[in-house]
Amino acid sequence: MGDPRLHAVASPVDAFDTPDLHALLQDMRDTMAQLDGAGLAAPQIGVGLRVVIFGVTANPRYPDAEPVPQTVLINPVITPLAAAIDEDWEGCLSVPGLRGWVPRYRAIRYRGMNEHGQAFERSVEGFHARVVQHECDHLDGILYPMRIRDFTRFGFNDALFAERELPPEA
Ligand code: NI
Repeated sequence: MGDPRLHAVASPVDAFDTPDLHALLQDMRDTMAQLDGAGLAAPQIGVGLRVVIFGVTANPRYPDAEPVPQTVLINPVITPLAAAIDEDWEGCLSVPGLRGWVPRYRAIRYRGMNEHGQAFERSVEGFHARVVQHECDHLDGILYPMRIRDFTRFGFNDALFAERELPPEA
């Protein structure tokens, strides 16, 4: 947090199935796995492209996290499906050691491309919708603390989650 690359608007990808794109995705997967994250956006490793990955399978660190399919999402567009807002805890690999209580749309449709340039879309809600909104915010230079409304619910993990399971980072 504070690195200008995290606060820039990322550029669309215009070439798919290229060695550069596959190398970027491998670097992102390695980073996400190493840090045990639920998602990662390219700007988090210093690359200003509209590329995010996310997914939660069985993760011993987050036994309560709902499963989300492992996904590559490029040039995403998010459409809220209703006005309903949920608030829940979020953490970010670019904001280590902290968690915050963040409002997000409960239900969204997202569309975009995979690494081969094939378009797809999904309608999702809950934790899946939250992770996608968190990752796509990274592409517009937005970190979750910029969305917090109640700053009494923003703080250090040790203080907020001394005796509870930590929510995932993304
Ligand atoms: Ni993040």
